[in-house]
Amino acid sequence: MRVLVIGSGGREHALCRSLSLDPQVSELHCAPGNAGIAEIATLHPVAATDPAAVAALAGRLGVDLVVVGPEAPLVAGVADAVRAAGIACFGPSREAAMIEGSKAFAKEIMTAAGVPTADSRVCTTAEEAAQALDAFGPPYVVKDDGLAAGKGVVVTDDRQAALEHARACERVVIEEYLDGPEVSLFALCDGGTAVPLQPAQDFKRAYDGDQGPNTGGMGAYTPLPWLAEGVTEQVMREVVRPTVDELGRRGLPYQGVLYVGLAITAKGPKVIEFNARFGDPETQVVLDRLETPLGGLLHACATGTLAGEPEFRDGSAVTVVIAAENYPGDPVKGDVITGLEPTESAYVIHAGTKRENGDIVANGGRVLSVVGTGPDQETARRNAYDLVSRISLRGSHYRTDIAR
Ligand code: AMP
Ligand code: GLY
Repeated sequence: MRVLVIGSGGREHALCRSLSLDPQVSELHCAPGNAGIAEIATLHPVAATDPAAVAALAGRLGVDLVVVGPEAPLVAGVADAVRAAGIACFGPSREAAMIEGSKAFAKEIMTAAGVPTADSRVCTTAEEAAQALDAFGPPYVVKDDGLAAGKGVVVTDDRQAALEHARACERVVIEEYLDGPEVSLFALCDGGTAVPLQPAQDFKRAYDGDQGPNTGGMGAYTPLPWLAEGVTEQVMREVVRPTVDELGRRGLPYQGVLYVGLAITAKGPKVIEFNARFGDPETQVVLDRLETPLGGLLHACATGTLAGEPEFRDGSAVTVVIAAENYPGDPVKGDVITGLEPTESAYVIHAGTKRENGDIVANGGRVLSVVGTGPDQETARRNAYDLVSRISLRGSHYRTDIAR
């Protein structure tokens, strides 16, 4: 099987790594990719968000499967263009990807499907926003309706700050605060059937102790020893299948991964958000533990032939993100990174990197995602941090409390 992966982050490197380990995958391409992906796939300088260019590249390469990594190409209609060219594509259509592209649309689907989530209101004026804030009370949750790379959400006790965020956005969703630990569950969907991957936990805040601003994610681990047995099945039953069915009823069959961000509240799991793609950096740890070859799984989703649940290896995986100076603000780029060689139980996934004059240099906010593995979480964690300590990038920062 010849596969083309679209994207250039840590998630795409992790996808390529797993695909390269699948004996069924004979050829691996990526556009546009990064310095880590270049070591295992052929890179093509095609813009990920250009549907016609991606479809043309896939046709030229004669691939059997295109895997779309990030949300922006999905919302731009890349999957539609690839499928229209007669090529199997892992990734939902532009319209189905609105489950991530519009928080208001996601809420509408959840209401129609009876999916447990936070009570919410869509607001377009400062007056509506103020009323909604007072109706729900603190902590206030204010979400930009559109795509914001994980940074459009403000959770705060400060009513003024909540109002200001609402004013800065054209349309916001204001909602009830959900109290409880967060879980990321990825469900693979083939347009009808949906199966779960192993749940993971992400660390969204920039600094130790869950301090600082929200980021795309600073670390993750799987499995979750504290998660009650049966929660995955409950979420498949109460959230994933009703959502996929509701989208199907609306003529939007969902092919790809449905990422369910959950809060495990006293009243059970409730949806915080949906994404139309794999989570980053959760993918790095989930795919590390996946035993079933990835190429076959993704191809089955793209062709409506998914059968049976994916299998996972015993043991634990922990990933720690190394971020550039100033991330999640405007990151410092261009500095040389050293110490990237893997150890026996840890390896480096590249996110924002590129090759320059033979060196690997930082080229994004989240630069690397170091994955450690072991028979248990504590060992996996130690192995990850051991490799983190060997890596050097001027000004970079990482959390020291991932999976602790
Ligand atoms: P989102 O982009 O919707 O995932 O929101 C980013 C982060 O904000 C989430 O991972 C949560 O930590 C937090 N968050 C979002 N919605 C809620 C909510 N209703 N209650 C509590 N925390 C929330
Ligand atoms: N790690 C969170 C996300 O990918 O949205």
